[in-house]
Amino acid sequence: MNNYAKKATILLLLLVLVAGCGSSRFKEEKTEDEEVVSEDLINVGFSQLGAESDWRNTNTISMQEAFTAEKGYNLIYKNGQQKQTNQITAIRTFIQQGVDYIVLAPVTESGWDTVLGEVKEAGIPVILVDRRVDSSDKTLFASWVGSDFELEGRKMAAWIKEYTESKNIDPADLHIVNIQGTLGSTAQIGRTRALANAARENGWDLMAEVSGEFTENKGREVMAALLKRFNNINVVYCENDNEAIGAIDAIESSGGKVGSNIQKGEIMVVSFDGVNEKSIEYAKEGKISCIAECNPLHGPRVKALIEMLERGETPDKYNYVDEKMYSSISEVDKIIVDGKDYYINEPVSMEELVKK
Ligand code: AHR
Repeated sequence: MNNYAKKATILLLLLVLVAGCGSSRFKEEKTEDEEVVSEDLINVGFSQLGAESDWRNTNTISMQEAFTAEKGYNLIYKNGQQKQTNQITAIRTFIQQGVDYIVLAPVTESGWDTVLGEVKEAGIPVILVDRRVDSSDKTLFASWVGSDFELEGRKMAAWIKEYTESKNIDPADLHIVNIQGTLGSTAQIGRTRALANAARENGWDLMAEVSGEFTENKGREVMAALLKRFNNINVVYCENDNEAIGAIDAIESSGGKVGSNIQKGEIMVVSFDGVNEKSIEYAKEGKISCIAECNPLHGPRVKALIEMLERGETPDKYNYVDEKMYSSISEVDKIIVDGKDYYINEPVSMEELVKK
């Protein structure tokens, strides 16, 4: 194994450890009887958008582990099952219960003004986590923490450009399909925009954009349909790893071969997250050519923001997380976006990775 492959393997192994960190610790919603506010603890109502992906489950666990009674918190967790109406109901319940803080991971960006106005009226600070809301009134929330999704997409586009140029592939010969995430979500909007802009700038053939709803099943279904519609797909840009796993299954079931050798007829799959164990395995095998990290470990970050508010401090409105790129392919060791270098498989210590 050469140094590059060793580095990639070590890094991907570290990711597997982090991905596996919580999978068995996932706690379901409390029953209505258990969902009472505490007199002694800080009450945090958490409206999570759903459980559509491994990323999401890891994110929920991170929140549940950050807000424990031992640390002084009573977390009331509500799973929105991908429906904004459920999230709005959860928020109104939190207001009635008189929680101290509301943490919202919104499924899509629009449609929050009324309910967040009610929260403001009740004097409860809101922390947005992961995705954003498009409200023009920025006083509706105290702070947001999450990923720069468009930057993730731009980094991926830069990787595709570097890789295909290293292989002397004509840009017009890149026939790309985008399996998008949940339409209207911040992650989808940013990643889709980044690819569409890169395709226009580089002369790539972006043939279709279809939502795979961030799930494995939908990714499989959408990919199978795309393979029937087009016979020349050679790049599949999946907006998360779960979709990529489904898409790879569909490609292999139709007799296709996934991999980066697109000049030899392979279909190159790239994706986002780096949380799911199977996708990390696929990245090591080269079935997923590149993964742009999307870090889900927001629990301690949200806790730090609430601690600032408790001390009467004003946290920054927008808090971005640093994220890396992973690939087992040695042709690209660095990409540059907005003049900044991003090294592929940049080594991180286990401690740093868990802390992130
Ligand atoms: O908003 C973050 C995205 O949501 C993750 O990339 C995806 O896996 C999740 O469902």
